[in-house]
Amino acid sequence: MTSTSPREACFEMLKGKEKIRILFVCLGNICRSPAAEGIMRSVVAKHGEEDRWVIDSAGTGDWHVGDLPDSRMRAAGVRHGYRFEHRCRQISRDDFNNFDLIIGMDDQNIRNLSLIAPDSEAKAKIQHIGDWLHSDECTYVPDPYYGTERDFDFAISLLEKACKRIFDQLS
Ligand code: 4NP
Repeated sequence: MTSTSPREACFEMLKGKEKIRILFVCLGNICRSPAAEGIMRSVVAKHGEEDRWVIDSAGTGDWHVGDLPDSRMRAAGVRHGYRFEHRCRQISRDDFNNFDLIIGMDDQNIRNLSLIAPDSEAKAKIQHIGDWLHSDECTYVPDPYYGTERDFDFAISLLEKACKRIFDQLS
Protein backbone atom coordinates (compact mmCIF):
# COMPACT_ATOMS: atom_id res chain seq x y z
CA MET A 1 0.00 0.00 0.00
CA THR A 2 1.34 3.46 -0.85
CA SER A 3 0.77 6.22 1.68
CA THR A 4 0.77 9.94 0.92
CA SER A 5 2.70 12.23 3.26
CA PRO A 6 1.12 15.55 4.32
CA ARG A 7 3.75 17.25 2.18
CA GLU A 8 2.86 15.27 -0.94
CA ALA A 9 -0.83 15.86 -0.27
CA CYS A 10 -0.11 19.60 0.00
CA PHE A 11 1.65 19.61 -3.40
CA GLU A 12 -1.11 17.56 -5.04
CA MET A 13 -3.63 20.08 -3.76
CA LEU A 14 -1.57 23.03 -5.05
CA LYS A 15 -1.21 21.53 -8.54
CA GLY A 16 -4.94 21.92 -9.11
CA LYS A 17 -5.23 25.42 -7.63
CA GLU A 18 -6.08 28.43 -9.73
CA LYS A 19 -3.46 30.50 -7.86
CA ILE A 20 -0.25 29.41 -6.19
CA ARG A 21 0.98 31.82 -3.51
CA ILE A 22 4.59 31.33 -2.54
CA LEU A 23 6.71 33.28 -0.06
CA PHE A 24 10.50 32.94 0.13
CA VAL A 25 12.05 33.70 3.51
CA CYS A 26 15.59 34.30 4.76
CA LEU A 27 17.09 36.18 7.69
CA GLY A 28 17.61 39.70 6.36
CA ASN A 29 15.43 39.70 3.18
CA ILE A 30 18.16 41.57 1.31
CA CYS A 31 20.23 38.70 -0.17
CA ARG A 32 18.80 35.20 -0.67
CA SER A 33 15.01 35.53 -0.49
CA PRO A 34 14.65 38.59 -2.77
CA ALA A 35 16.90 36.75 -5.24
CA ALA A 36 14.68 33.66 -4.96
CA GLU A 37 11.63 35.88 -5.55
CA GLY A 38 13.18 37.48 -8.66
CA ILE A 39 14.37 34.16 -10.08
CA MET A 40 10.98 32.49 -9.47
CA ARG A 41 9.24 35.41 -11.22
CA SER A 42 11.53 34.91 -14.18
CA VAL A 43 10.87 31.13 -14.37
CA VAL A 44 7.12 31.71 -14.17
CA ALA A 45 7.26 34.47 -16.82
CA LYS A 46 9.21 32.22 -19.20
CA HIS A 47 6.25 29.83 -19.08
CA GLY A 48 3.66 32.62 -19.42
CA GLU A 49 2.13 31.74 -16.03
CA GLU A 50 2.38 35.14 -14.31
CA ASP A 51 -1.38 35.26 -13.66
CA ARG A 52 -1.33 32.00 -11.74
CA TRP A 53 1.50 32.74 -9.31
CA VAL A 54 1.76 35.19 -6.42
CA ILE A 55 5.44 35.45 -5.46
CA ASP A 56 6.93 37.47 -2.62
CA SER A 57 9.74 37.40 -0.07
CA ALA A 58 10.28 38.43 3.55
CA GLY A 59 12.84 38.25 6.34
CA THR A 60 12.58 36.93 9.85
CA GLY A 61 14.67 39.94 10.98
CA ASP A 62 13.71 43.62 10.71
CA TRP A 63 17.11 45.35 10.32
CA HIS A 64 16.70 46.27 6.66
CA VAL A 65 12.95 46.93 6.33
CA GLY A 66 12.28 49.21 3.33
CA ASP A 67 15.70 48.64 1.76
CA LEU A 68 16.42 47.36 -1.74
CA PRO A 69 18.37 44.08 -1.90
CA ASP A 70 22.05 44.29 -0.94
CA SER A 71 24.01 45.98 -3.75
CA ARG A 72 26.23 42.89 -4.09
CA MET A 73 23.17 40.70 -4.66
CA ARG A 74 21.73 43.16 -7.17
CA ALA A 75 25.08 43.17 -9.03
CA ALA A 76 25.15 39.35 -8.99
CA GLY A 77 21.58 39.39 -10.32
CA VAL A 78 22.61 41.60 -13.23
CA ARG A 79 25.51 39.22 -14.02
CA HIS A 80 22.94 36.42 -14.31
CA GLY A 81 20.31 38.43 -16.20
CA TYR A 82 17.98 39.47 -13.34
CA ARG A 83 16.84 42.67 -11.69
CA PHE A 84 16.10 42.28 -7.98
CA GLU A 85 13.95 45.21 -6.87
CA HIS A 86 12.00 43.91 -3.87
CA ARG A 87 11.73 46.21 -0.84
CA CYS A 88 12.67 44.42 2.35
CA ARG A 89 9.87 43.53 4.75
CA GLN A 90 9.60 41.41 7.86
CA ILE A 91 7.38 38.33 7.86
CA SER A 92 4.12 38.60 9.81
CA ARG A 93 1.61 36.06 11.10
CA ASP A 94 -0.79 37.19 8.33
CA ASP A 95 1.65 35.75 5.78
CA PHE A 96 0.66 32.30 6.97
CA ASN A 97 -2.90 33.05 5.78
CA ASN A 98 -1.86 34.84 2.60
CA PHE A 99 0.53 32.19 1.21
CA ASP A 100 0.28 28.47 0.41
CA LEU A 101 4.00 27.72 0.70
CA ILE A 102 6.58 29.48 2.86
CA ILE A 103 10.06 28.43 1.84
CA GLY A 104 13.07 29.05 4.11
CA MET A 105 16.67 29.08 2.89
CA ASP A 106 18.35 27.27 5.79
CA ASP A 107 17.68 25.47 9.08
CA GLN A 108 17.74 28.67 11.10
CA ASN A 109 15.04 30.21 8.89
CA ILE A 110 12.91 27.07 9.34
CA ARG A 111 13.32 27.22 13.13
CA ASN A 112 12.41 30.92 13.20
CA LEU A 113 9.37 30.34 10.97
CA SER A 114 8.18 27.48 13.18
CA LEU A 115 8.29 29.83 16.18
CA ILE A 116 6.14 32.44 14.39
CA ALA A 117 3.60 30.03 12.79
CA PRO A 118 0.31 30.54 14.65
CA ASP A 119 -1.00 26.94 14.38
CA SER A 120 -0.37 23.50 12.91
CA GLU A 121 -2.01 24.40 9.58
CA ALA A 122 0.44 27.30 9.27
CA LYS A 123 3.39 25.07 10.25
CA ALA A 124 2.50 22.65 7.43
CA LYS A 125 3.15 25.44 4.92
CA ILE A 126 6.80 25.80 5.96
CA GLN A 127 9.20 24.12 3.53
CA HIS A 128 13.00 23.94 3.27
CA ILE A 129 14.58 25.04 -0.03
CA GLY A 130 17.00 22.11 0.37
CA ASP A 131 14.13 19.81 -0.58
CA TRP A 132 14.55 21.12 -4.13
CA LEU A 133 18.34 20.85 -4.13
CA HIS A 134 20.34 17.73 -4.75
CA SER A 135 22.73 16.95 -1.93
CA ASP A 136 25.75 17.12 -4.28
CA GLU A 137 24.80 20.78 -4.90
CA CYS A 138 24.10 21.77 -1.27
CA THR A 139 21.43 20.99 1.30
CA TYR A 140 20.54 24.67 1.89
CA VAL A 141 21.30 28.11 0.43
CA PRO A 142 24.28 29.50 2.40
CA ASP A 143 24.05 33.12 3.47
CA PRO A 144 26.41 35.16 1.25
CA TYR A 145 26.12 38.32 3.40
CA TYR A 146 29.60 37.96 4.94
CA GLY A 147 31.01 36.32 1.81
CA THR A 148 32.57 37.16 -1.53
CA GLU A 149 31.25 37.76 -5.04
CA ARG A 150 31.55 34.01 -5.64
CA ASP A 151 29.22 33.30 -2.71
CA PHE A 152 26.56 35.56 -4.22
CA ASP A 153 26.94 33.81 -7.60
CA PHE A 154 26.72 30.42 -5.88
CA ALA A 155 23.49 31.41 -4.10
CA ILE A 156 21.99 32.43 -7.44
CA SER A 157 23.01 29.17 -9.12
CA LEU A 158 21.38 27.14 -6.31
CA LEU A 159 18.23 29.25 -6.44
CA GLU A 160 17.95 28.85 -10.21
CA LYS A 161 17.96 25.07 -9.82
CA ALA A 162 15.50 25.09 -6.93
CA CYS A 163 13.06 27.53 -8.58
CA LYS A 164 12.93 25.50 -11.81
CA ARG A 165 12.21 22.36 -9.79
CA ILE A 166 9.53 24.10 -7.71
CA PHE A 167 7.86 25.26 -10.92
CA ASP A 168 8.05 21.79 -12.50
CA GLN A 169 6.59 20.20 -9.38
CA LEU A 170 3.63 22.55 -9.13
CA SER A 171 2.73 23.24 -12.75
P1 4NP B 1 19.91 37.21 3.88
O1 4NP B 1 21.37 37.71 4.36
O2 4NP B 1 19.29 36.52 5.07
O3 4NP B 1 20.19 36.26 2.77
O4 4NP B 1 19.16 38.46 3.44
C1 4NP B 1 21.54 38.56 5.47
C2 4NP B 1 21.42 39.92 5.31
C3 4NP B 1 21.63 40.76 6.39
C4 4NP B 1 21.96 40.23 7.62
C5 4NP B 1 22.08 38.86 7.77
C6 4NP B 1 21.86 38.03 6.70
N1 4NP B 1 22.21 41.10 8.72
O5 4NP B 1 22.61 40.60 9.78
O6 4NP B 1 22.03 42.32 8.60
